Amino acid sequence: MKQADYASFVEPDRVRKEVYTDAQIFEREMERIHETVWIYCGHESQIPKAGDYYAVQIGRQPMILVRGKDKKVHVLYNRCPHRGNMIVGDRKGNTGEQFRCSYHAWTFHHDGKLKNIPMMESGYAGTRLNKDSPELCLKRAARVESYRGFVFASLAEKGPSLKEYLGKAIVAFDDMCDRAPEGEVEVVPNCFRVIQHSNWKLFMENQIDALHPSVTHQSTGRAAHEVEKILARKAKAGEALSYHMLSAFATVTIDKWDNFQTINYPHGHCILTGYMGLRPQDPDTLAYDKVMIKAYGKKRFEEIVGVNIHHVLVYPGLSVQSPLQQLRAVRPLGVDRTLTEIWHFRLKGAPEPIYRRSLAYYNLVNSPATLINADDLENFWKCHQGLSSEGGDWVSFARHHGHDIEKDGTVESAPNMGTSEAPMRNQMKAWAEFMR
Ligand code: FES
Ligand SMILES: [Fe+2]
Repeated sequence: MKQADYASFVEPDRVRKEVYTDAQIFEREMERIHETVWIYCGHESQIPKAGDYYAVQIGRQPMILVRGKDKKVHVLYNRCPHRGNMIVGDRKGNTGEQFRCSYHAWTFHHDGKLKNIPMMESGYAGTRLNKDSPELCLKRAARVESYRGFVFASLAEKGPSLKEYLGKAIVAFDDMCDRAPEGEVEVVPNCFRVIQHSNWKLFMENQIDALHPSVTHQSTGRAAHEVEKILARKAKAGEALSYHMLSAFATVTIDKWDNFQTINYPHGHCILTGYMGLRPQDPDTLAYDKVMIKAYGKKRFEEIVGVNIHHVLVYPGLSVQSPLQQLRAVRPLGVDRTLTEIWHFRLKGAPEPIYRRSLAYYNLVNSPATLINADDLENFWKCHQGLSSEGGDWVSFARHHGHDIEKDGTVESAPNMGTSEAPMRNQMKAWAEFMR
């Protein structure tokens, strides 16, 4: 297959199955997309102290997110310049004053600069290597930028700035942080990790797929709704709130999903406008409102909690539910293997019950222990199996095609067409542009 052909696999309303199953295409998209654009590495609060690090995958590259002595955050390739050993083997930790390779004890500063090689002078005199050779340092990600504590890296020297790349999808981070009385969030260590036996794009498409919840999650939603009704009769409204997070999957029926909207942006980003009652009037919410009004004033408070977003998709690897402080990062491992990291955050300065609500959503909807996640995972695996078969050549994204509303570079699903496959068309359009 000639590489120039890849973009032709994408038509406005359908995509060739090989886009999901071909190992060569996977290599090319890692190079052209994941190892080029801005990829989320982690939150600054994951590494508060000097020497704190987290291992993270960018495309096929093992990387290290680390806090330096000067408080700066660095992103380095997890590879020793000597013989290639990974510098850190653990997922996270504190490396102390320096990184020290476990193979032959070369040491490095937190910013990747070489610190020492045992018996450097006698061992390397007259060779191509001396203490100042740049190839003796841990290689750094070409570009690192942080926005409101969320750290991104790009492995390409050139390209748009982080802000330019995110465009309007930056609202994911503003909406999450603005909802904190102190204007900041703090990560909850640690995350859930799930490896899916399916292509990474299946997960990304599913995140803003308004057509699937009332079908895929119907049984889970119905069961939760039964419990919710019993609790309501017993007047245990506080407990019913977390069941409501699940019952909405059944009570919001497929026809009602058309009332919602997706807004699609350049580079494959997308917003799904809000669908849940995110402003309940229970005592916990009212107490939170008070703290927020004190911090921001009534007018700004209304603006903040009035942001109508349920979900922001940051292409190619991030799904953020900002009003519920949830973030999922997608790390492709192979054409048919995908890791998702499932994180959630605390709103700094907010009362504890607001955090418990976020935790409840995390556990009930996004964790691997919930039926919701299991429902989706089963579909992802079955999709990948079906796509790998000879049973057909195309994946269809034709729903409501031709009705999208284009204005100022954005594409909105038309009124009463919230189940439009516009977000999938938008992602594949971006994919084709990157692959061209
Ligand atoms: S491989 Fe790292 S010091 Fe030798
Ligand atoms: Fe789902």
